[in-house]
Amino acid sequence: MAIIYNEKEQIFALNTGNTTYMMGIADGKYLGHIYYGKRLNHASGRYLLRTGEGPFVPSVNKREKVSFMDCFPMEYPVWGSGDFRETCLMVRTAAGHRGAELHYESHRIYKGKPKLEGLPATFGGEEQCQTLDIVLRDPVIGLKATLRYSCFEDVDAVTRSVLLTNESEEPLYLERVLSACLDLDNDKEYELISLSGTWARERNIIRRPIVRGKQGVSSVRGESSHQEHPFIALVSKGTDQDKGDAYGFHFIYSGNFMAQAEVTQYDFARVVMGIHPDGFTWKLKPGETFTAPEAAMVYSDEGIGKMSRTYHDLYRSHLIRSPYLHKERPILINNWEATYFNFTTEKLIAIAKEAKSCGIEMLVMDDGWFGKRNGDNCSLGDWTVNEEKLTGGLKHLVDEVNAIGMKFGIWFEPEMVSPDSDLYRVHPDWAIQIPGREPAQCRQQLVLDLTRKEVREYVYESVARILRSANIEYVKWDMNRSLTDAGSYELAADCQGELYHRYVLAVYELQERLITEFPRLLLENCSAGGARFDPGMLYYSPQIWCSDDMDVPERLAIQEGTAICYPLSCMGAHVGASPNHTTGRIAPFQTRGYAALAGTFGYELDVTKIPQEDRDMIPSQCADYHKYHGLIAAGDYYRLASYYYNHTFDCWEVVSKDRAEALVTCIEVWNRPNFKSRRIYLKGLKPDAMYRLDGTDEVYPGDLLMQGGYLLTRAWGDLKGTLLYFTEVL
Ligand code: DGJ
Repeated sequence: MAIIYNEKEQIFALNTGNTTYMMGIADGKYLGHIYYGKRLNHASGRYLLRTGEGPFVPSVNKREKVSFMDCFPMEYPVWGSGDFRETCLMVRTAAGHRGAELHYESHRIYKGKPKLEGLPATFGGEEQCQTLDIVLRDPVIGLKATLRYSCFEDVDAVTRSVLLTNESEEPLYLERVLSACLDLDNDKEYELISLSGTWARERNIIRRPIVRGKQGVSSVRGESSHQEHPFIALVSKGTDQDKGDAYGFHFIYSGNFMAQAEVTQYDFARVVMGIHPDGFTWKLKPGETFTAPEAAMVYSDEGIGKMSRTYHDLYRSHLIRSPYLHKERPILINNWEATYFNFTTEKLIAIAKEAKSCGIEMLVMDDGWFGKRNGDNCSLGDWTVNEEKLTGGLKHLVDEVNAIGMKFGIWFEPEMVSPDSDLYRVHPDWAIQIPGREPAQCRQQLVLDLTRKEVREYVYESVARILRSANIEYVKWDMNRSLTDAGSYELAADCQGELYHRYVLAVYELQERLITEFPRLLLENCSAGGARFDPGMLYYSPQIWCSDDMDVPERLAIQEGTAICYPLSCMGAHVGASPNHTTGRIAPFQTRGYAALAGTFGYELDVTKIPQEDRDMIPSQCADYHKYHGLIAAGDYYRLASYYYNHTFDCWEVVSKDRAEALVTCIEVWNRPNFKSRRIYLKGLKPDAMYRLDGTDEVYPGDLLMQGGYLLTRAWGDLKGTLLYFTEVL
């Protein structure tokens, strides 16, 4: 790892173990992108900074400024001075003008990586990473932009963010602040990968060629969303799991975003990523600094698989802070799909007792324990225990569950208020709304205006008071609607455009405070399933509920998409009931277990009611979790087959970092006649080592398993799964 400045050529090279990111200064002032790809051994290549390639204008016979601005690969393009592509920054002055030009002024290279104030971000010590701050200034309006880049010793990732400081005497209005831009020649005919979906169908992989114009994904829902994900990758045509160029861009943020690839008039591909400009204006007062969230970029010359593994390593080593990161998570049973709102102390204790006897370790009480909440139409905001349901109170229940030998966890939806709640009756102005306009309800609830300090205080104390009252070791923090009617009673007229971002900052502040006061708490984020599954939330919670959909085929697609940029250790995954509650599909209990094993593992069903033969399988499923957890959580992930693409068969593998163990999960989703076996080609093994298949005397050479494959006997019936565990014979 080294960040190098070649003074003679005015070039910056950011090197990771296998990649180089290079920029240069043109005309003494414009910072342009030169190269991002496989590692280079020289911080050199000024000729690649194409300054003279604006289109020839015969009448003038020289390069004009506008043609330069419109084709130069600007590192941080600004709106208004001739770059007509997608830009990163739009600034309005107090006089109402929009326009700025950022000129290089200075830079600093240093060890380590500073925190981003109030924001989640990757971290690393002085021995683990280096940072480059490049200071740019607008010569007219008093705006300073610090472009911050960090690269890591142990992972091939480069992170970017931007700090904007108002050095003038007047306020500046930031109308667009994106975090990253990358210009690539489109000579490799890039394709765009995104993760798209809806409720119960999150993060399905979409791949499409990029064509002239703009294409991309975004959210203006106030959260990262079910529908799109703040991740895109550009992959060269033909790229697969193992070969080809893959450029990943992931936004470490939990609110409105845009991620876009634009093919320009000269067939360049410009990628931008940042906070969505719609509805965003930030008043930057004199002397103040605005910090844009971080984008994490990964380049792989070994296809999508290596890009995924790099993101997994980056997040495990440099983003997730929880003490649970490397620990076995307690196997939980959540009562949501078991009881919905209809439960009592007795019912929960009955579930806990049966669960304990099967090897399950924690009971999680979901929605419905507070206020008068017997349905989703009331009581959000009234965080007092409903003692009609929980007779004897919460502490009594927790103590009873602990006495059974199980941990206890609880559900909250702290950011919301029901119009039918005591809180709303007293403080109707605490809901986000535009005065004079009735705010839109969704799931019969409104969103609290967390930009207000007293609201944050109320929300925090509501949660903390409950946690202080009993031995609660886990919190599921839910969020079940998007933001609309973005108005605050508190913010000044020219600051209303700050609401969406301030809301996200407030969620971060609340969760930071929570894990500071309760450092041993296991926090799981959730948003109506996986609508706020993003790297921002991972900074606060080591796991996020993937989706409300536990139906096996749907789950496989969701988990395949999620694993493209997230380690398996953070994917909340449970064994659900059958028929499944979102699709009505019936799947074998064992296969449901195999699907959940690829995540944090738990149950979401009424264990007192399921068929005996299913119940009898739980102890061995729990044993599998304990046996494989370390490998699954810390190993290298390889996608061997994709049901989402081939419509029949799903298969993934996790290999330990020392390559001595490999676990392969095979799921025959939709059986087809004729062949009795199929070949599975393992990956990531030591070619010269011998591997024993667990539970048998069969021993195979590593190279044969990878090149010749393993012959998997075809299952009889649909949705049948097999686990293959290979260990090196020493
Ligand atoms: C949505 C979550 O995804 C579910 O698991 C459950 O907690 C419900 N909310 C409760 O309202």
